[in-house]
Amino acid sequence: MPARLTAASSIATWLDHPRGGPLLRGLLAAGGQDESALAPVRLLPLERLVALSGGQLPAEAVADLVRRASADDDADDDADGDGEATEQGLGASDVPRALPQWQERVSTGRFTGMTVVVTGAGSGIGRATASRVAREGGRVVAVDVVAERLDALAADLGPRAQEAGGEVVVVTADITDPDGVARILEAAGSDVAGLANVAGVMDDMTPVHEVTDAVWERVMRINVDGMMRLTRAVVPLMLARGGGSVVNVASEAGLRGSAAGAAYTTSKHAVVGLTKSSAVMYGRLGVRVNAVAPGPVITGIEARFASELGAERIGGLLATIPDPVQPEQLAASITFLLSDDGVNVSGTVLASDGGWSAQ
Ligand SMILES: NC(=O)c1ccc[n+]([C@@H]2O[C@H](COP(=O)([O-])OP(=O)(O)OC[C@H]3O[C@@H](n4cnc5c(N)ncnc54)[C@H](O)[C@@H]3O)[C@@H](O)[C@H]2O)c1
Repeated sequence: MPARLTAASSIATWLDHPRGGPLLRGLLAAGGQDESALAPVRLLPLERLVALSGGQLPAEAVADLVRRASADDDADDDADGDGEATEQGLGASDVPRALPQWQERVSTGRFTGMTVVVTGAGSGIGRATASRVAREGGRVVAVDVVAERLDALAADLGPRAQEAGGEVVVVTADITDPDGVARILEAAGSDVAGLANVAGVMDDMTPVHEVTDAVWERVMRINVDGMMRLTRAVVPLMLARGGGSVVNVASEAGLRGSAAGAAYTTSKHAVVGLTKSSAVMYGRLGVRVNAVAPGPVITGIEARFASELGAERIGGLLATIPDPVQPEQLAASITFLLSDDGVNVSGTVLASDGGWSAQ
């Protein structure tokens, strides 16, 4: 008999379970969805859906599922004749497939006295990075093009940052706009120790013969030109203070051709080039420059398939990659390189991808 289902059981375990599967599929159907919506998060515990759904799936609905699944278990246990519910041994098909829970461990004071500029701070990986730096005592200059996202960040993070001796300064700015870059610098001041270039956008998975000028130009403008412009403005400040750390967010698409369309893949290979060139140029001047290449991460980034060829080639290859992780897991890699813990590391492209790059 399958193991007892709990809120901590993985979504895959629920779907594969003879009673949990129909219960979960029923819940999805009631919301007009099917299990394909859960494909990217199959290995996460069921309870994580509460946070990931942004309020669409309340905690009570998960608790109710668990109650209904265990009510059936209890009935079965009684039918066994022993009158009490027992934990069952694990059969081959019941081995829990949820990833072990990762617990973020804040390094108190790791960024105390440091100003760190983080772009894309309104969502996903940038938001998690800004949060981690501020909760470790840093002064974060949180940049995003969407003002409401920054308002939400300031409301949520501000008090926690203060408690840790940190600070959150928000700047609504487009990194591709020279005026935006000027306002970021003005807010940052002259003593900038860190720059996390996280802001970026995805393409539409088109191969080069199908990519439109609009997609190509938008992706290159934000992912490459914007990153270069802000870095170009910040590096002199770092040189003047005798050191600093720049972390550029690349992607698995900066390492291989099978993770996205032509535009995004090209842009992220350019990010790797900018990183390596800068590491060489500033290596003896105290400014470290590294890249982090994330695998799949659960964020607000929008990716769509606008090409049949792209869907067939890339979609098929993406089926075997590691499961998506939380943005906080990327923030752990990025803040390592931003902080003095990365003291001897420059010019590297750190794949933070659950092992995808080794495949
Ligand atoms: N999510 C993933 O699976 C994944 C995988 C590999 C790489 N990445 C990279 O990680 C980075 C962060 O992506 P995410 O997944 O957190 O996405 P996200 O969409 O959740 O967050 C990106 C943020 O950047 C902001 N932004 C976009 N253009 C901007 C601009 N011109 N100026 C200022 N801010 C701007 C957006 O408003 C958004 O808040 C990107 O560079 C992305 O390419 C993401």
